[in-house]
Amino acid sequence: MRIIAFSNNKGGVGKTTSTVNIAAGLQKLDKKVLVIDMDPQAQSTYHLGISQKKRFNNPIKIDKTIFDVMKGEIGFQETIIDREGMHVLPSCTELRGIEFLPIPAKEFLLKDALEKLNGYDYVLIDCPPSLGTITLNALCYADEIFIPVQVQFLPYHGMYNLFEAVEMVKKRLNKNIKITGIIGTMYNANKLINREVIDEINKRLPGKLFKSMIRENVALQEAPSWGQTIFEYKPESKGAKDYITLTKEIILQEE
Ligand SMILES: Nc1ncnc2c1ncn2[C@@H]1O[C@H](COP(=O)(O)OP(=O)(O)OP(=O)(O)O)[C@@H](O)[C@H]1O
Ligand SMILES: [Mg+2]
Repeated sequence: MRIIAFSNNKGGVGKTTSTVNIAAGLQKLDKKVLVIDMDPQAQSTYHLGISQKKRFNNPIKIDKTIFDVMKGEIGFQETIIDREGMHVLPSCTELRGIEFLPIPAKEFLLKDALEKLNGYDYVLIDCPPSLGTITLNALCYADEIFIPVQVQFLPYHGMYNLFEAVEMVKKRLNKNIKITGIIGTMYNANKLINREVIDEINKRLPGKLFKSMIRENVALQEAPSWGQTIFEYKPESKGAKDYITLTKEIILQEE
């Protein structure tokens, strides 16, 4: 079982889009997948058509979330949503409250709550754009980190904070954690900056950048409002092609 956190403290880099569509790609390739939404923005929950409120395009209504599981109020078994074979542990705004809970060793709430979780090929965790308690929970439970990077902007500054956080987690909380992939997102062959960013990543983290780039694609932006993955919304789009190619590369890492 590979447990992978999608993390980058910079916002809007494609964490949620990648988590959801790689999960869907893995499912298409017959893998058993669980998505854990650890972002209080609950965007991957929403992207998968799941919501606490019954809304247009959100056919699956929920009342329990990962926050209840972390607080120990309910088991993960009762909280997991089966979305046509893809399993999802949804999130909610209240998850923000974790910062204020008077509990010691709060970084381990997720790991402890999911101790008995098994039976999946992949567990993918969508993290919020910050390095607070919520992200630390994801990094304490995960074995691997994938970092989505928008290749249109030079990412150095933000990534330093993330690398520092990973080192700190490795030293003090989870010695297994390692960065095993960088995902280049919003690639546009016409923009020169792409090349510069790619060269810079390859220099600093040799061998980590996946060869399959995710190109800029409007369908990827549209799919969330329909509560659909890119393979459901526009299976012929560039976005669907890029995510399935990337998914195969992720599976090949295991050989
Ligand atoms: N390849 C792409 N082409 C075009 N738009 C994209 C692509 N990938 C993501 N987007 C869009 O960019 C925005 C940010 O993406 P996403 O929500 O996945 O980032 P994020 O890192 O999860 O953001 P946050 O930090 O807020 O959680 C969204 O509107 C999404 O639809
Ligand atoms: Mg997100």
